[in-house]
Amino acid sequence: MVIARKRSLQHVYVLATVLLFLVHIKPSLHFNHGCIEREKQALLRMKDDLIDDYDVLSSWGREEDKRDCCKWRGIACSNITGHVIEIDLTYEKPLRGKISHSLLELRHLTYLNLSGNDYAGTQFPADNNGSFSKLRYLYLNSANFSGTISSLLANLSSLQSLDLSHNNFHDLPNTDWLFGLSSLSHLRLDGNHLVRSSDWLSIVNKLPHLETLSLFSCFSGDVIPLTISPINSSSSLTALDLSDNNLVIPSVYPWLSNISRYIEELALSSNLLQSSTLAEIGNMISLQWLDLSNTRIAGPIPKSFGNMSDLHLLDLSDNHLSVPFPDLIQNLSGCTEKSLEVFILIGNQLTGSLPDLTRFSSLKGTISHKQSLEWDHREKHRMSIQA
Ligand SMILES: *[C@@H]1O[C@H](CO)[C@@H](O)[C@H](O)[C@H]1NC(C)=O
Ligand SMILES: *[C@@H]1O[C@H](CO)[C@@H](O)[C@H](O)[C@H]1NC(C)=O
Ligand SMILES: *[C@@H]1O[C@H](CO)[C@@H](O)[C@H](O)[C@H]1NC(C)=O
Ligand SMILES: *[C@@H]1O[C@H](CO)[C@@H](O)[C@H](O)[C@H]1NC(C)=O
Ligand SMILES: *[C@@H]1O[C@H](CO)[C@@H](O)[C@H](O)[C@H]1NC(C)=O
Ligand SMILES: *[C@@H]1O[C@H](CO)[C@@H](O)[C@H](O)[C@H]1NC(C)=O
Ligand SMILES: *[C@@H]1O[C@H](CO)[C@@H](O)[C@H](O)[C@H]1NC(C)=O
Ligand SMILES: *[C@@H]1O[C@H](CO)[C@@H](O)[C@H](O)[C@H]1NC(C)=O
Ligand SMILES: *[C@@H]1O[C@H](CO)[C@@H](O)[C@H](O)[C@H]1NC(C)=O
Repeated sequence: MVIARKRSLQHVYVLATVLLFLVHIKPSLHFNHGCIEREKQALLRMKDDLIDDYDVLSSWGREEDKRDCCKWRGIACSNITGHVIEIDLTYEKPLRGKISHSLLELRHLTYLNLSGNDYAGTQFPADNNGSFSKLRYLYLNSANFSGTISSLLANLSSLQSLDLSHNNFHDLPNTDWLFGLSSLSHLRLDGNHLVRSSDWLSIVNKLPHLETLSLFSCFSGDVIPLTISPINSSSSLTALDLSDNNLVIPSVYPWLSNISRYIEELALSSNLLQSSTLAEIGNMISLQWLDLSNTRIAGPIPKSFGNMSDLHLLDLSDNHLSVPFPDLIQNLSGCTEKSLEVFILIGNQLTGSLPDLTRFSSLKGTISHKQSLEWDHREKHRMSIQA
């Protein structure tokens, strides 16, 4: 009797445990129930802090027919857990205002794109509680943020892509924050005022997965780099944009040549290059995209350029080339003549007559200047350095 009763109590206990378990896991079964209420409230508080001049967030609201925040514009939820995992606030019309601290309550985010809006010099929410530990893609470019960001970034060990271009963050110049970003593959910091270019080039050695690095217009007025830590030749960099930095490239060249093994896209425009360096660049035979415009080169263009069998774009515009045009073309003959699609020479003083270009079988574009070729400039901006 006693035993039987005990057994039935056990049953009750087991049943209660199962029920509790069901009740406990219910909030994560969201196949039919739309989004998680707590996350929805966080998003609504975010909306309250944004100025939506163009009503782009009209699908976000407290009304009954808008109850599923997973269906709101720019929001994506995990179809397994129901958590908000992606936020994209980049629309054709910009938002204004500021980003609420409520964002930090969305702890399952893997993708956050706030680029192109005007956050009016406000601070991106600070966090020291690991809110973004799952974040893999963070795009805050051209968003008029100010203040600091590095403490937030320092622990994002899942982050693969980061674009902070064209903001006014104060704390980027010290590179320490980068070293916690152990998964980082794509980094773009264009138009930020960084100092000590040597420190920045050295980061390539500390970020073993880095594939693309864009530091366009970051060091204007910077002194020539003095020492760059030797590069580990296992660098996985495939695209590098150092344009518009007034760097004296020969002083960077030993470093550059060591990262060159897999490099496919290289933009050195608006720096200072020397002829001796050109010969070495010709040895980077995996290059597909090479921008040497406005680097004050006078030639010669070495024969080694003809060895770049994957080269699609070569931009030598706005330089001091005064070599005979046919000789220049002769030096590009070889493997390059089969691959070259876009060749920009405008803004030089080439001599001699226009050579026969028919053997450049992939070449597209039109001749628009006497003794200069200007291929469709839009092509030039296809460079795929992308965070
Ligand atoms: C979740 O979404 C992904 C991508 O849309 C899809 O491939 C997958 O089948 C979905 N899983 C479930 C359980 O619906
Ligand atoms: C950010 O979002 C906009 C709009 O959806 C998109 O065009 C852009 O490519 C996104 N940026 C990145 C880097 O994914
Ligand atoms: C950035 O924000 C400041 C402060 O609100 C404002 O004066 C400025 O016009 C904004 N800049 C841009 C490019 O939107
Ligand atoms: C830190 O995160 C935990 C959840 O991981 C949360 O319970 C806690 O309230 C957070 N603390 C602060 C100060 O935000
Ligand atoms: C951030 O990283 C530091 C050093 O690895 C660690 O001590 C700290 O606990 C981390 N903070 C969070 C919130 O993960
Ligand atoms: C280039 O790589 C070699 C071998 O990996 C190394 O000894 C040398 O210091 C590197 N040079 C630079 C400038 O990084
Ligand atoms: C280069 O990196 C590899 C793998 O990360 C490591 O084993 C090696 O010690 C490094 N070499 C140098 C000179 O840093
Ligand atoms: C072609 O290459 C040779 C050897 O590299 C060089 O001497 C010559 O000046 C180059 N011609 C032009 C037009 O750059
Ligand atoms: C072109 O490549 C071949 C094969 O690697 C090499 O022998 C030759 O010296 C290279 N030519 C120039 C001008 O660098």
